[in-house]
Amino acid sequence: MGPSFSVEGQALLLLSRLISLHPERKKKRSTIPPAEMRTRRRSIFYLCALMAQQDDLLKKVISHSKEYGFVFPSSEIYDGLSAAYDYGQLGVELKNNIKEYWWTAMVKMQENIVGLDASIFMHPTTWKASGHVDAFNDPLIDNKDSKKRYRADVLIEDHIAKIDAKIQKDVDKAAKRFGDAFDEAEFRSTNPNVTRRQGEIDQIEARFKKAMDDEDLADVKALIEDLGIACPESGSKNWTDVRQFNLMFKTELGAVSGDSGVIYLRPETAQGIFVNFLNVQKSGRMKVPFGIAQIGKAFRNEIIARQFIFRMREFEQMEMQFFVKPGTQMQWYEYWKDFRIKWHQALGIPAENYKFHDHLKLAHYADAASDIEFNFPMGFKELEGIHSRTDFDLARHEEFSGKKLQYFDPEENRSYVPYVIETSIGLDRMFLAVLSSSYTEEQVDEKSERTVLRIPPCLAPVKVAVLPLLKKDGLPEKAREILKSLQAEFYCQYDEKDAIGRRYRRQDAIGTPYCITIDHDTLEDGMVTIRERDTMTQERVKIEEVASIVRGRVKYPVA
Ligand code: GAP
Repeated sequence: MGPSFSVEGQALLLLSRLISLHPERKKKRSTIPPAEMRTRRRSIFYLCALMAQQDDLLKKVISHSKEYGFVFPSSEIYDGLSAAYDYGQLGVELKNNIKEYWWTAMVKMQENIVGLDASIFMHPTTWKASGHVDAFNDPLIDNKDSKKRYRADVLIEDHIAKIDAKIQKDVDKAAKRFGDAFDEAEFRSTNPNVTRRQGEIDQIEARFKKAMDDEDLADVKALIEDLGIACPESGSKNWTDVRQFNLMFKTELGAVSGDSGVIYLRPETAQGIFVNFLNVQKSGRMKVPFGIAQIGKAFRNEIIARQFIFRMREFEQMEMQFFVKPGTQMQWYEYWKDFRIKWHQALGIPAENYKFHDHLKLAHYADAASDIEFNFPMGFKELEGIHSRTDFDLARHEEFSGKKLQYFDPEENRSYVPYVIETSIGLDRMFLAVLSSSYTEEQVDEKSERTVLRIPPCLAPVKVAVLPLLKKDGLPEKAREILKSLQAEFYCQYDEKDAIGRRYRRQDAIGTPYCITIDHDTLEDGMVTIRERDTMTQERVKIEEVASIVRGRVKYPVA
């Protein structure tokens, strides 16, 4: 495995390396020692191959999704709408199964967590109180030559990723040289190149943080200029000023126009939970610590919405707010980090696809935050956030509404505003994580290959395909009888068209874990063949056993 950083970061790194090899820079090139030159060339080949592979995988997933009815571009007959997608007949099943896996683990299997379904429209003061009206902004900057728009923070992060990659290269080299005796922490804290570069990163981060905290956007622009950051598209450094751009969508309520009627589409589902905190606590007689979970749509007017369903303007979140006694939040924060990573890993997707990324720059409401990052086709990116939100939200809603949002703790004989640990995962990102990690092209034998979605069986859209070997001799009738007995419990497909091998391939391509084949013997001995997707092994079983075999293999794992 090579270093892992964002594709944008890799592209910039690659670009800078290519520039340093460009013939017009012969003078500079001649100063590079031959060994370094070889390493650079190898890095370029490695990165080119990696990026082509990643790009290729994303393209394949997008086209496979459309071909088999998982995801379609929205309003395609009108040439589509940027960053909006529709989930097709299999997509909606996969999405529902992901929701059910989450709801089972986060609500049904928890004694002290209950669900909620709050409305998308909320009183506009909600967003003043939550800080979204004033602080839910992205700093944007335009390149005057390419006319491309960027998030200033992303440009700076990608620049940092370049420096970080150089550090990683030194670390990898040293690890190779010293073998088992290598002490990475020691090397990072003493190697002069590494400490100098790390110092550079720390300085950039500190200056950026200060500029953002002071709302000094002129200094954010100055930082981009001082770092010599060029537009990835045009290579030009001709930048506009940095401006703040609020990400909330606004609309008007009823017939009222003007400022008084302004209403927002919620940018997160969490606030619907906070404003209902007392309703749920009182009506459900909940005792701290307890949680409220919700699945629902959220909307953000993202500056750059891209990478298929990874970043959209309309998306779905699965969020849980866990209310705890002040002072215990760090212990619960660690508990939920651990619980959530186990939830992911229980699916059987290889563990090396996940990593934690602790936040350096905390959101306005948090005292600790970490992302679970997933190895998407574009590299490691945020899949889920776990945030310790303090008492910020409840306290602000108390302040803005004038209503008490406190919990009377019978053990302590006092009232307090609980602290909150939040787990927040994007459903669409989870969908992409499942789909991209399960997409496999493989050789079956010398003559044939197959595309198979190795979706964890519990999430697979279709659980069972029922296939009569022939379209005659009473086999379809028997197959439909079996189909009927399974349909109430499992989402099934019936298919009698084409040779059995082609039907297996069609089911592999949509990730169906089990195919049941009905043949002439079935009519005699009451047995069918059950074929497993990943191993392609076939087993002869009694018709009455099919449901319990499938049930045992497709149930949701316990985190
Ligand atoms: N309530 C906290 C909150 O909303 P966030 O980190 O902004 O935190 C939580 O979002 C999750 O929502 C992210 O980890 C991601 O999975 C998903 N998400 C955020 N913006 C998204 C977008 N534009 N498109 C798709 N998913 C998004």
